[in-house]
Parts: sequence; structure tokens; C-alpha cells
Amino acid sequence: MASTAVSPHRLAALLGDFDREPAYLGLANALGLLVIDGRLPHGAKLPSERVLATALDVSRTTATRAYALLCERGYARARHGSGTYARLADGRNRVRDRVLMPRLDAGHIDLGSAATSAPPGIAAALTAAAQDAVPYLGGHGYFPGGVPELQQAIAAHFESRGLATRPDQILVTPGALSGAAVVMHALAGPGDRVLVEDPAYPNIPRALSGSGARLVPNPLDSDGWDLEATTAVVRRARARAAYLVPDFQNPTGHLMTSEQRERYAAALADAGTIPVVDEAAQQLLLDDGEMPPPFAAFHPQTITLGSASKIYWGGLRLGWIRAPRSLIDDLVRARIGLDLGTPVLDQLALARLLTDGGDVRTAQRARLREQRDALLSALAQHLPDWRVRRAAGGLSAWCELPRPVASALCASAEARGVVVAPGSIFAVNGRLESFVRIPWIRPPAEMREAVLRLADAWLATRDQPLGHEQRRVTVA
Ligand SMILES: Cc1ncc(COP(=O)(O)O)c(C=O)c1O
Repeated sequence: MASTAVSPHRLAALLGDFDREPAYLGLANALGLLVIDGRLPHGAKLPSERVLATALDVSRTTATRAYALLCERGYARARHGSGTYARLADGRNRVRDRVLMPRLDAGHIDLGSAATSAPPGIAAALTAAAQDAVPYLGGHGYFPGGVPELQQAIAAHFESRGLATRPDQILVTPGALSGAAVVMHALAGPGDRVLVEDPAYPNIPRALSGSGARLVPNPLDSDGWDLEATTAVVRRARARAAYLVPDFQNPTGHLMTSEQRERYAAALADAGTIPVVDEAAQQLLLDDGEMPPPFAAFHPQTITLGSASKIYWGGLRLGWIRAPRSLIDDLVRARIGLDLGTPVLDQLALARLLTDGGDVRTAQRARLREQRDALLSALAQHLPDWRVRRAAGGLSAWCELPRPVASALCASAEARGVVVAPGSIFAVNGRLESFVRIPWIRPPAEMREAVLRLADAWLATRDQPLGHEQRRVTVA
């Protein structure tokens, strides 16, 4: 099996100051946490005991005992004559489960990803699309920009938000994430700097760095974007592009105000940095009121990414790019290096949903509202010492724990049948061990049950001795 070797230097940095009383136990605990939360990936080759002992300034016996305990606990495997490898009991699938893949074990409540089942109305749109596709069958079916009906419907969606948009400014993609990869291939090459929010939805940094760009983290604080600090970061970085999620940022849930958008746009314009704005959750305002204007209203060079995944269904695998006309040819060229377009049938279903899907959107928001309220009131009742901001929309609660033990809490919660993601998964440049993200994606009764299990897991973990994580917390 091909595996990545973790250098002793990197491992020492990840471990930080582990508990040394006794050292073998502290080291095994710290290594186990790194495996659980994915920072030591499944299959990664660990340094030899001798090398590890030197790098950490511990005895060889300590390193040997720590590895032995790690193997005994199932977080590593020793291969005779080859070395020690990080391991998760369920292998790679489980590693992916933590971010995106649904968990199907009976009785488990999977809150590992912020994505819902399809709301009513999706099946009808898919069925009707089969008829709509008939006239297309006489052609070759390749639409690298998108099927014209859908480009028009997306352009109309932007017009309804006050942004004049022509259909030929739209490129349909297999989701917003894929849109991000296309944009980066068109805009940024090796060594270019790209600003990214920290914390971030974990697949974004991967998509952004795919073209070789260097990521510059812009930290969000507990109130969201600090425009003074952000302006300084933008000025210093002189980045090619800045990736922002102003609408119910994932994972923090923050919504950027109009004034912040205006200031942010001005800072980017001054620095010559192109805004790439991910609107994946734009249609998920759950409280009364209105959404602020789109970021592109403040910066005409903005490239906007949209998604059908959150308001309709992730299984449609559709999103879009809206860009200034002058960039579209470059974007089409970049996308052709990745794929040649998305299925006609699915695009026709989405065109129907965008034009006639008001009821679907209303139903989706109504159930999310009910689920959010059930989650937040259960958290207030059963976990009153957690700090939970009430987000006006989106899909998740970003919860701050009184102590930085999120990875251990999540492992303990999983043993009790509820999967949630620790803050470290979203950290671009820090550990965020004081945070967990809980998406309100299941019906109210399940959300309440999930909180009861989390409260039980919290009782089991909240008083555990702090290891190396304590001094390394980054506030989101
Ligand atoms: C900010 C953000 N961007 C993109 C995505 C992925 O969207 P899509 O399914 O359209 O690729 C997500 C999913 O959670 C997200 O939160």
C-alpha cells in the first residue's frame, strides 16, 4: 500500500507539549487524538521509534511503549520489518465519513456533514426533467457552459437579487466546490497567494491549493470578520484572489453585513485582489428579514459561486459560477481541463426548481428552522456551559466548549452513536480544539436525542486532563 511518511519534525510540531507523566501514556494519548481527528491520516507511516525518541527528546523505551499502546488501542499497526502506520478501525472510509460521507449504521445519528436529505418536490422535478430532455436527444448533449435553460434561470436568479446578469456570464458546474477548483485553475498558478477564511469548510483549502496556490489564512473571530484586521491582511498579502463565504459561513454561521461587504470589497479593490465569493448557503436565511446585497454588488470583478446542494439537494451535484464576461473564456478553458459539463437531465431538473421551485425552497427553510430551534433549545437545556451563537440561517451551530477537548468529545460521542465534527477539521492554521460543529440536518426528535448523547459524552470527557492541546487553541 502506498503511504505518506510523516517526518519526525512534522510529528513533533503536531504533538506539541504532550503530558509527560508518564510520558509513554501522554505520547500514546496525543498520537491517538491526531489519528482520530485526521491530522495523522489513515495509512501514514510514523517515524521509527529511534527517530521519534530523538525528535521528542524521550527515551527509546518511551517511544516503544507509546507505539505499542497505540497499536493495542487500534490507532496504529506495526508491520514487521516495515514500520508503524497510523490506522483507524474502519479504514479510509471512516476518515472520509468525518467530513462528508454519510454514516449508515443503524441507530447512529450522523451529523458529520452539513447536508440534508432531499426536501419534497425534488423527485417531481427529476421526473419532469426526463420529458424536458427529449428535445435535446437529437444533439450531442455537451454543454461546457451549461444547458441554455439553466443558464437563463440562474441569470434570472441573480437579476432578482439586483445584479444585472446575462446567461453567458454563467458556467454550470458539478457543485460550488468544483466551481472553486475551476476558478483557481483559471486564476492562480504555483506560488500565487490566495486568502482563505480560517476556519473554513475543509474541502475548500484543498480545492484552492489544487492549482499550486499558497493559502494565506484570514482568521475569523467570535463575531465574524474583523474588518480592520482583514484589511491589514489583505494589504499585506497582495493575494491574487480571496475566497469568502459571507452567507452563513461554514462552519461558524456568520453572516457578513452590508457595511462589512462594502469595506471588504474596497480593501480587495485597493489590493488588486479578486473576490471569489462562495454563496453555497445564500438561500438559507431562516429568521425574518432580508439578506444583505450580494458581494458582487460592491465589487464588479467578483466571481460568485452558487450551489443547488443546500437549498435543494446535494445529490443533484450542481452549482454555478457567475463571472464578468471578460473572464468566461478563461473559465471555460479551465473547466474543459477538468470535465466537459454536467448531465443535461440534472440541469433541466434544476432549471425547473429555480423557476417553479418556490414551494420547495419554502419547505426546505421551514424544516431547517424547526430543526435549528430544536437543536438550540436542547443545547441550552442540556449543555448550558457551551457557548452557542444563534445563527440567523445556514445549516450549523458552531459551539465553543469550556475546555479544548473537542477531539476527545467527538470520539466519545461517536461511541454513543452520534457523529459530529471537531473544530480541528475546519482549522486552516490552528487547532480549534475548543469547538464542535453541529448541523441541524435531522428531524427535531433526532436533534434532541443527539444532544442527549452529546451531553453524556461531555460528562465523560469534560474533566479529562488537558494534554498538548491546551496551549494551542485558536479562537475562531
Ligand atoms: C461553503 C461551502 N462551499 C461549498 C460546499 C460544497 O457545495 P457543493 O455541494 O455545491 O459542491 C459546501 C458544502 O458544505 C460549503 O459549505
